[in-house]
Amino acid sequence: MTNLSLRQVSKRFGHVEVIRDLSLEIPAGEFAVFLGPSGCGKSTLLRMIAGLEAPSAGEIHLGHMRIDTVRPGDRGVAMVFQHYALYPHMTVRQNMAFGLRNIGTPREEITRKVAEAAEMLEIAPLLDRKPGQLSGGQRQRVAIGRAIVKQPQAFLFDEPLSNLDAALRSRTRIELARLHQRMQTTMVFVTHDQVEAMTMATRIVVMNQGRIEQVGTPMEVYQQPRTRFVAGFVGTPAMNFLPVARVEERGGHTVVRLPDGTEIATLVPADRLPSGDLTLGIRAEHIVPVEGAEARVIVIERLGERTLIYADLRDGSTVVYDEPGDVRLEIGQPVRLAFDGTAAHLFGPDGMTLRG
Ligand SMILES: Nc1ncnc2c1ncn2[C@@H]1O[C@H](COP(=O)(O)OP(=O)(O)OP(=O)(O)O)[C@@H](O)[C@H]1O
Ligand SMILES: [Mg+2]
Repeated sequence: MTNLSLRQVSKRFGHVEVIRDLSLEIPAGEFAVFLGPSGCGKSTLLRMIAGLEAPSAGEIHLGHMRIDTVRPGDRGVAMVFQHYALYPHMTVRQNMAFGLRNIGTPREEITRKVAEAAEMLEIAPLLDRKPGQLSGGQRQRVAIGRAIVKQPQAFLFDEPLSNLDAALRSRTRIELARLHQRMQTTMVFVTHDQVEAMTMATRIVVMNQGRIEQVGTPMEVYQQPRTRFVAGFVGTPAMNFLPVARVEERGGHTVVRLPDGTEIATLVPADRLPSGDLTLGIRAEHIVPVEGAEARVIVIERLGERTLIYADLRDGSTVVYDEPGDVRLEIGQPVRLAFDGTAAHLFGPDGMTLRG
């Protein structure tokens, strides 16, 4: 097991700085997921680890070795791409063996490693087929198998599931998580899909515009977002954000008022508040339809096991909250909503979460 260390890494393309002075430690054996919106620099960062791009500044270390100065093939990493790039004229077996043959691995060893990986990925019956005779999901497993036979110090995945349909994506997520548990190899997985990040990661690295916003376990990132950006990016539906005015201090904590007049007692210490505009953040599951603010249903989104209700408060601001799957409600119906202030977040004018 090998740890991965990025030290003050920057990347410029011409005048544009895509990665800015980024430092990150990924302990050995972690399943780290780089999560962030399109264009934030996830692939660029992964490609620098793989050796497909050179950093403009900084160092990358894998275990005891500095790798950013080493040829890609000698870094001990294996990368799996969104477009799996299998050789169409080769069988699955030949595709998986190709890298090992290139470095002169003995024939028996290649046979053994390919068989082991094929067994693990349940593609043994497909070894004599060509990629054109496989489904997308099977091809993706071959691409992963090709990485496994190299026995890398670290696996690098760049959105390997985004070409798969929803059912296969969720199955492959589980397979990858199990693979990681079995192999205990360090994995770095890039995605803009927060469900993938939440379900597979042991540690999520949330990125925005070439910088790290937060590093944490899935539940740390979900429950204790460090910034408004993280709060809004992680979680479905997205967290509700409402501008609020501070009203008073109660027991050392901050009470705020929504634009419709509703007062909410938060757990944010009153003496830590910055001057300037405050934003309240509250998730759908923390707004409950009991005696509270007046609202009117505008959209009903049925997801099966739960229903998302979008409702307008008296001042016209919209919030989304949770109901059970079989709730009976109609568009236009008046509802009363209570906000659980103990689970709410407050953000300062700079977008930072205000905490105790
Ligand atoms: N070779 C290049 N030359 C110039 N700009 C580039 C190059 N490669 C990437 N960029 C820019 O760097 C930024 C980050 O790109 P990157 O591919 O790392 O984003 P990403 O987070 O992987 O996005 P996505 O989720 O869409 O794959 C983007 O603004 C992109 O246009
Ligand atoms: Mg990318």
